[in-house]
Amino acid sequence: EKAEPLRVMISGAPASGKGTQCELITKKYNLVHIAAGDLLRAEVAAGTENGKRAKEFMERGQLVPDEIVVMMVKERLSEQDSQEKGWLLDGYPRSVSQAMALKKFGFDPDIFILLEVPEEILVERVVGRRLDPVTGKIYHLKYSPPETEEIAARLTQRFDDTEEKAYLILFSFPENNVEAVLSMYEDVIVKVDGTLPKQEVFSKIDNILTELLERKESALGSL
Ligand code: AP5
Repeated sequence: EKAEPLRVMISGAPASGKGTQCELITKKYNLVHIAAGDLLRAEVAAGTENGKRAKEFMERGQLVPDEIVVMMVKERLSEQDSQEKGWLLDGYPRSVSQAMALKKFGFDPDIFILLEVPEEILVERVVGRRLDPVTGKIYHLKYSPPETEEIAARLTQRFDDTEEKAYLILFSFPENNVEAVLSMYEDVIVKVDGTLPKQEVFSKIDNILTELLERKESALGSL
């Protein structure tokens, strides 16, 4: 018999490094990465009705209304691959109502990782962020530059990454809301210093997840 797969939530301010860590985590742990922002950007790109509505909120750095986001995430979590391999939920829940919806549907995390990064660093990260449209990999002009000229030439910027939006997000980042969401996961929160270089941040997360997996396996052994 196999131990239950990992169920991980990762949270932090915009540009705190969630997507970057998720890339590293999925590579090692083979979890299904579910990013609310990526699901939304896919809707925007597809030009669906939900996508058109979502875009207005995203450009302003505001939360997209629950009626668009909640079912979208719930459906992805319910798919067979997420259930079998385990999941890594990125950028969700961002409000108490989203967290309540997840609980209601029975999705509880083993662990809730919070990346802590101060505001002045966040702005610089949003502005320098670039994406490789071919591989989907996240780069930063200064901290994580592309490996080759060829990649450098094709890098794009996210439509919602402007300096203006960066400030907007930072100043409207609803602290209280964050605190309320955190309090719902109190017993499984682990705070990680997100200002460290990305490999160091990952090595902390890696230790936490390895230990968690070992606990799950030994719990199984003692049954
Ligand atoms: P979303 O896509 O979730 O964006 P976000 O929260 O703004 O997070 P980001 O993707 O911007 O940042 P990240 O933490 O993944 O950082 P990254 O790894 O890229 O959401 C976008 C929008 O969708 C929201 O504004 C909202 O409108 C909507 N939305 C999403 N979820 C929603 C929800 N649940 N409900 C309602 N609406 C929702 O890193 C950033 C940069 O820093 C990169 O360039 C990277 O290379 C660099 N970097 C990363 N780590 C390091 C490091 N350790 N040192 C130096 N540089 C680093």
